[in-house]
Amino acid sequence: MTDSTADAHFKLEIDEQNIAWLTFDKADAGTNVLNIDVFTQLDQHLQAIAAKSPAGLVILSAKPNGFIAGADITSFTRVTSEQQALELLNAGQDVFNRLEALPFPTVAMIHGFCLGGGMELALACRYRVTRDDPGTRLGLPEVRLGIHPGWGGSARLVPLIGAVKAMDLILSGRTVDGRTGRRMGFVDLVVPERHLHGAARKLVLESPPPGHAGFLDRLASNVLVRPLLAAVLRKQVAKRASKLHYPAPYAMIDVWRKHAGNKPAMLKAEARSLARLVTGASARNLVRVFFLQEQLKSLGRDKSYQPRYVHVVGAGTMGGDIAAWCALRGFHVTLQDQAPERIAPAIMRAHKLFMNKLRKPDKVRAAMDRLMADHKAQGVERADIVIEAIFEDAEVKRSLYKSLEPRMKRTAILATNTSSIPLEELTPALARPERLVGLHFFNPVAKMMLVEIVNGTATAPEVSTHAMTFVSQIDRLPLPVSSTPGFLINRILMPYLMEAVELVEEGVPPALIDEAATTFGMPMGPVELGDTVGLDICLHVAEILAGHFHEAVPGHLSKLVAAGRLGKKSGQGFYSWKNGKPIKPKPASGNWNKDEIINRLMLRMLNEAVSCLHEHVVAEPDLLDAGMVFGTGFAPFRGGPVNYIDAVGKDALLRQLRDLHKLRGDRFAPDPGWEHLFES
Ligand code: NAI
Repeated sequence: MTDSTADAHFKLEIDEQNIAWLTFDKADAGTNVLNIDVFTQLDQHLQAIAAKSPAGLVILSAKPNGFIAGADITSFTRVTSEQQALELLNAGQDVFNRLEALPFPTVAMIHGFCLGGGMELALACRYRVTRDDPGTRLGLPEVRLGIHPGWGGSARLVPLIGAVKAMDLILSGRTVDGRTGRRMGFVDLVVPERHLHGAARKLVLESPPPGHAGFLDRLASNVLVRPLLAAVLRKQVAKRASKLHYPAPYAMIDVWRKHAGNKPAMLKAEARSLARLVTGASARNLVRVFFLQEQLKSLGRDKSYQPRYVHVVGAGTMGGDIAAWCALRGFHVTLQDQAPERIAPAIMRAHKLFMNKLRKPDKVRAAMDRLMADHKAQGVERADIVIEAIFEDAEVKRSLYKSLEPRMKRTAILATNTSSIPLEELTPALARPERLVGLHFFNPVAKMMLVEIVNGTATAPEVSTHAMTFVSQIDRLPLPVSSTPGFLINRILMPYLMEAVELVEEGVPPALIDEAATTFGMPMGPVELGDTVGLDICLHVAEILAGHFHEAVPGHLSKLVAAGRLGKKSGQGFYSWKNGKPIKPKPASGNWNKDEIINRLMLRMLNEAVSCLHEHVVAEPDLLDAGMVFGTGFAPFRGGPVNYIDAVGKDALLRQLRDLHKLRGDRFAPDPGWEHLFES
């Protein structure tokens, strides 16, 4: 290099061929993100570089994890007005416009994450070269945070690859690797890591014609075609998200429909529309959910704990899938059950999972090699973690522990997947009760992100921390809860499910109840959820909770289970099931008030949430919200149950609860915790 300057975030070097290499290395951060401070420095560099008239400019990242992960989301959370948001957006747009207007070739040299604002910066360059590996991810995933691109992402991507492909990427929020980006038309070269610099240099020196959408791709933005395509796009989006709850994708379609073909107008419209969204409730809550997820992830960041061997006892629904998931994530797993033939179905399910997730035969083979059937329990001695997932029977579990514990390493963790038994009922069988912790996975393991870390009174803090780290290592979100009946998630969910059964008993059509819940924003209604989980399992958990909290279980549920109507798995439950789907007859128009149904369902859930906070089942309201969003899919755009109470107002909700208490009985009796809610 012949010339070099550096400041807090950037380092500029000019080489012998007069190419400027601008390396982004955000100060005091592990990941490159964009904020006002970064834009100011980038702008100064671009002006200085322009004055030097280099042969070209390559922008790259010094961070091992990637190019740029996007905007610094905290800068958006501080924005309080549309005007403030516009200022932030215009600042970014000005810098990217300057970058785009440079009179010499500009290249984004990309490895790892290139998302959101990072992708928008890359799109403002004339060329993009990426590393060839699945870990390099490009995309505009803003819709997941309730917003859409605002630094020129749509204004530049549409002319580059056409509206159909561009809108697909933006509206789905999905990310793609370099090869897919090249196929789609927004990546110029995809090369192995060692050739990245050479490829970037080649683009500068050869300066090929930059990419742009072909005739057919351009046609989609034709003024006559646009309204038709916009209608199709709106329909597709509506299948996934309602306009009322998730306005961002609809706003994006509008920006494109009105302004495609006129870049300056589209840039302006992007910024105006985004400024509106950013200050709205949906985006604020989705951003909140993003931070809640980060909070859960951060609970498992104890790098000093490095387990390798996992032994799972019980190869049924849960144990089999937990073992498979751990092997998928790189652990060596032994799987024990009472007999080899009980383990075989779990191994077959694991193979299906590996095929689905890993695809390449050598990777599938390696994962299968990491998972071993072990009915003689030979893996116990070397295991760092033993996960018990046998029948839900305290006596059977205790007797198993007596034979397991003496054979375990002193440092090993014993984890139970019990869904309802307090740890204190299991510890009497143990010489070292401090090593027992609950790892409560949810069904299906491969889909459910949350794992409750159940802390008994004897559980050692170190064991709990290690359990959380392990859960993070298998890409799941750990939620610490205390060992109380139902723990957190089932306890809060159950009154809501039971209220749905009460409504069915009163004659309300199940499909109407489910419709009311999905209108509120739940991913699936409570009746369908009960059928999906299995009515026998629901009844079992409901009976345990009813025993502890002195409540009655609705008779209708017991009757269905006694009649063998267990839901999806038996083909009949509240609904009849065909090909894995419930048959939902269109609800007859009765005198049912949908708002009242929603109120009854939600108030029972919220009342239980307040009760859990009051009894310290979780340490703080944010953790409760995180648990409910990631454990049950509680309407993410509402930011969690406690956030919802705060938004609606606790007094208003308490009034409704008191009214229902008078009208419908003690199951609506307000929990004493309401009095102290939000007191710090
Ligand atoms: P399951 O009945 O499908 O499987 C249990 C397995 O444990 C059977 O294969 C059985 O042969 C084996 N087993 C029983 N005693 C054993 C012993 N002494 N030694 C070795 N293997 C033994 O049960 P499932 O549904 O997988 O539940 C397991 C545990 O997970 C229970 O504690 C349950 O409460 C909990 N759980 C279940 C969920 C579900 O949705 N099914 C969700 C979350 C937790």
